Amino acid sequence: MSVRDDPLLRLDRVSVALRQGGREMVSGVSLSVGRRELFGIVGESGSGKTLFTRTVFGLHDDAVVSGGEVTFDGRTMPAKSHHTEMKRLLGKRIGFIPQDPFSSLNPSMRVGAQITEALYLARGLSPKSREARDAAIAVLAEVGIPEPDIAFRQFPDQFSGGMRQRIVIAIVLAQEPELLIADEPTTALDASTQRLIVDLIVERSRTRGLSVILISHNLELLRQSMDRIGVLYSGQFLNLFQADQLAHQEVHPYTQALFDCIPTKDKTLADIRPIPGEPAGAGFGLAGCSFADRCAFAKDRCCATPLPINDAGQARFSACIIGKGA
Ligand SMILES: Nc1ncnc2c1ncn2[C@@H]1O[C@H](COP(=O)(O)OP(=O)(O)O)[C@@H](O)[C@H]1O
Ligand code: SF4
Ligand SMILES: [Mg+2]
Repeated sequence: MSVRDDPLLRLDRVSVALRQGGREMVSGVSLSVGRRELFGIVGESGSGKTLFTRTVFGLHDDAVVSGGEVTFDGRTMPAKSHHTEMKRLLGKRIGFIPQDPFSSLNPSMRVGAQITEALYLARGLSPKSREARDAAIAVLAEVGIPEPDIAFRQFPDQFSGGMRQRIVIAIVLAQEPELLIADEPTTALDASTQRLIVDLIVERSRTRGLSVILISHNLELLRQSMDRIGVLYSGQFLNLFQADQLAHQEVHPYTQALFDCIPTKDKTLADIRPIPGEPAGAGFGLAGCSFADRCAFAKDRCCATPLPINDAGQARFSACIIGKGA
């Protein structure tokens, strides 16, 4: 973290509910993301990662922040105007790389024009100016696009999937955000390109001093690239830990179960165990721990006791009712 150690983003008991019907989908998320921190959010498919982050950052029209507080750079979003205030920050102080980045590129607009448009909206640079053109070419070079001055005049479909993803990152970096959020930015790419893209996000963020939230179902990818990781499971916030401590410290039983599925160089085949059963999914409003029917340590009280919440905003936290990983 930097000399300023107040967090850039703080979530305090944040819940998200569907606008229609008011069903609560994700609840009790308390965490903070430091300046220059690389923060991962992990969870199986359907756990609520996309719904939660898109709603918190003003990108979801069908869901609302239904409880808790979101504070960005010391300013708490007023509950009534959360959506509008977040929209003001998006594309300027907060950059978002969506789960399907290809749909965020306009196929009929040249790459250069898409970057200069972002420069205009974020920084007021005239799109036709020499300054905007030079800045766009510089950011294309920064993300590793070969011959960036030629790429400036090309269309998105003239590039491979990995290169198009780099262009999306270039557009977001051109906005000079302080916080960059990437929702599964690599799922459409092959494994080696995935790694290159995550490395690019990490390297550019380190160089520019950005904070990052990287969302993924891939715990190993996050463990290797992030500083800290938060775990979502069936709409509940279960665990928060230092990424490099995962193999060395007791963690929440769900995190441990996720880690036990991953082949690493220190594990034999017998050490790799799939998690039995299926996730409950987000939004079922369970009384206790939603992992109880899959957990080897579950006790009767796990199904009836409200989950602990990270009220003190600690850097490390486990929501296990019997105290595992706390
Ligand atoms: N607009 C919506 N309306 C109703 N349910 C939704 C909406 N968006 C997502 N959901 C539901 O919320 C749950 C979490 O989805 P999602 O956030 O996409 O999960 P993840 O990103 O972790 O894979 C799923 O059960 C999904 O069907
Ligand atoms: S609260 Fe109970 S069911 Fe949930 S992880 Fe802890 S021991 Fe397992
Ligand atoms: Mg998702």
